[in-house]
Amino acid sequence: MRPPVDASGASPDDRAVILPAERLRGTLRLPGDKSISHRALLLAAIAAGESMILGSGDGADVRSTAGIVAALGVAVERVERAERDGRGIDYRIDSPGIAGLHEPDDVLDCGNSGTSLRLVSGLLAGLPMTVVLSGDRSLRQRPVARIIEPLRSMGAEIHARRNDTLPPVTVVGHTTLRAMAHATLVPSAQVKSAILLAGLQADGRTSVRESIETRDHTERMLRARGIPVTRTDIGPMRSAGIRSEATGAVEWTIEGGGLVRAVTEQVPGDVSAAAFWLVGGSIHPDAELTLRGVGVNPTRRAIIDLLRSMGAQIEERAARPDDGVGEPTADLTVRSSRLSAIEIGPAEVAAAIDEIPILCLAASQAHGRTVIHGAGELRHKESDRLAGIGAGLSALGADVSVDGDDVTIVGPRRLRGAVTDSLDDHRLAMTFAIAALIANGPTTVGRPASAAISYPGFFVDLEGVRA
Ligand code: S3P
Repeated sequence: MRPPVDASGASPDDRAVILPAERLRGTLRLPGDKSISHRALLLAAIAAGESMILGSGDGADVRSTAGIVAALGVAVERVERAERDGRGIDYRIDSPGIAGLHEPDDVLDCGNSGTSLRLVSGLLAGLPMTVVLSGDRSLRQRPVARIIEPLRSMGAEIHARRNDTLPPVTVVGHTTLRAMAHATLVPSAQVKSAILLAGLQADGRTSVRESIETRDHTERMLRARGIPVTRTDIGPMRSAGIRSEATGAVEWTIEGGGLVRAVTEQVPGDVSAAAFWLVGGSIHPDAELTLRGVGVNPTRRAIIDLLRSMGAQIEERAARPDDGVGEPTADLTVRSSRLSAIEIGPAEVAAAIDEIPILCLAASQAHGRTVIHGAGELRHKESDRLAGIGAGLSALGADVSVDGDDVTIVGPRRLRGAVTDSLDDHRLAMTFAIAALIANGPTTVGRPASAAISYPGFFVDLEGVRA
């Protein structure tokens, strides 16, 4: 029998009580970037020989991808280092190459990870094997028509539950896929990546056009492994008032038939994990936090630029410059700041898609009315994040309203300790935990363990910076 649940939606054993912090100080190394870690594992799986992945994320999502790679007959070794820096794990991957992958003898378990499900579907669509991809209750509610339709146009045989809309997904692979030109209907790096990975095995040139540019890790990482991927700017930006460089219409093209080389990849710190500390440091009245080795790829750094445009004091020192192939990194220092409201549209939402929940917390402490337009895609993440953030921040005393796809937050409002529910969603658990640091009493976060999906050391770091 399940234990009783309280108002947070969690059983009494499944909640964290977090006290406000007097000061925030410290230097953190973030977990390895989740998006890059997934891709490094999948590209290593199809590259003949030995690949090394240094500082991979070690959250449950990346472990799901590592499990899938192993199930395809690839040797996956977790390498223990004598000196751990606390932010990830190294992997040694030894693959027979794409032609030597085995058909898995069981369902591929993607756990909570939409990235695993969608990228693996594209990667395997052109291989002669039948696979079934599934995952936890949340994953089985995530939309998949967005990958099924384009992959079918390439000749893939792919099916899903509920009239091809929901996982499990079955891919009956074919050895020949047709190259095609596709325009994505929703800005999604997962959809773009699934098509590019299928295009790698198609008979010609596949292109993906996106009206709002999304994260370009797959493209950079393919280039770094010897596959030419070209980028063409094709038009004016879609929505008015765009601030971020990372927004504009682009087309990506890949030639089929190339062989991916095995390489060593150093994974940068996850900017989506850094976002929690950037906001925590900005909104806390006595804070100074330094974050080392954070990935600042132009298609991922929107949260840094949005917070700065709100007045956040974030200092940035480049650690690895951008060469268009690898991933640029920087050390960031954030200090207590006076924030002002902003108004953002769909392009910024796409550029900061995973950071919108924590940005809402920043907005609750900013002077004025923040409006986030066109955030409907957040309803299709690990939870309905618009509903979750509305409920949690309102319980904490923020002035938040969600109207259709738009969120309006009026600030600043003094937060009070309250009972919140993460809905088993890592980004909500961490948002409410950061909010607790500035509340006027203890805050309960229901189902906090979900933080380990992307940031297993989050609560250790939270205690560490309270010094
Ligand atoms: C990701 C893309 C985004 C993001 C997810 C990771 C990726 O999803 O929300 O956490 O690694 O490509 P969508 O492409 O569905 O927006």
